[in-house]
Amino acid sequence: MTNNKIIHILIIGSILVSLTACNLLTNSDDAALQINENNQEQVTDNEETETTPEPEEEVITLPTEELQKGDQSDEVKELQKALAQIGYPVELSGIYDSKTVWAVTDIQLQEELTVTGIYGQDMKLVLEKILAEEIKITVGKGLPYQADKVLDDDTVLLGNPYEALALVNKQHALPEDYIPSDLVIPDVRFPFVEDVPKKQMRKVAAEALEKLFADADAEGLDLFAQSGYRSYARQDVLFASYVSVNGEEEANNFSAKPGESEHQTGLSIDVTSPHVNYELVIEFGDTEEGKWLKKHAAKYGFIIRYPEGKEDITEYQYEPWHIRYVGVKAATEIMNRGITLEEYLAEILPEQTSQN
Ligand code: DAL
Ligand code: ZN
Repeated sequence: MTNNKIIHILIIGSILVSLTACNLLTNSDDAALQINENNQEQVTDNEETETTPEPEEEVITLPTEELQKGDQSDEVKELQKALAQIGYPVELSGIYDSKTVWAVTDIQLQEELTVTGIYGQDMKLVLEKILAEEIKITVGKGLPYQADKVLDDDTVLLGNPYEALALVNKQHALPEDYIPSDLVIPDVRFPFVEDVPKKQMRKVAAEALEKLFADADAEGLDLFAQSGYRSYARQDVLFASYVSVNGEEEANNFSAKPGESEHQTGLSIDVTSPHVNYELVIEFGDTEEGKWLKKHAAKYGFIIRYPEGKEDITEYQYEPWHIRYVGVKAATEIMNRGITLEEYLAEILPEQTSQN
């Protein structure tokens, strides 16, 4: 090979190397641009992610145990998360407050569950279906939200008369137009046959009373039911007749003014026995039936509402015949400790019963 030829080849070779290098550069510029564009796109994607985040699905673990007014726990908070997700304006406080009671009551009324304001297994199943959008609930359709209202005379008008722990006394009254929607006649003995309104109770209390009577029967006792539900109007007539005979102060020691009687809740009933001639008298407390009732009422969710020695708190005379349904948990604590519903509620939710 001549020197000229070698130079020629070298020139062509360097041109080719240069061209290749140029091409490579161009390709790498393209690549860089590509990466930039990709980066840009990624940045843009990131920006989009930051401005419109995917809504995070909150995992709610619905409680398996029974919960009720005054309970404070993480389980209550889980229940409140579920209620909030459905649209109820409840605080996620972990305290089973009056608003939580209302939301539970509202759902129970709409789904025709046992109406108590207490969260239980039936409510868990319904909440699961609501959250899965298998059934639909309209907030406030069963029981429009109504806070307790303080009237001019300082009486508190109850916003939720349906809850099992509703406090009705001389400071806490029921609305005049409150008529429970689930009144039934319990299948128990009465000392009369007519189907009069006073035979009725709310379903939850009627079912509990039937069990109580069945077990009392099995013990050979002679319990009779005397007087259950009473409307506002009926209480008005009764109270007026007692006032005309005894005067207002004395009458109000054994009979409630209209709106202030637990009989209007449908959760209370007066019971008696043939050993006191079916009368509602203090001696009933000394009969076998009266003693058994005091000992066992809580097992069925009932309390002796006006106990002996607590007249200064209840502001009524001792009534061993008047039982009130509050649910098994509250009844057990109230009867075991020998306290009143007033004392129990003041302990579990002090700020909400401070008007006492
Ligand atoms: N005997 C009770 C206090 C009532 O009248 O409701
Ligand atoms: Zn009574």
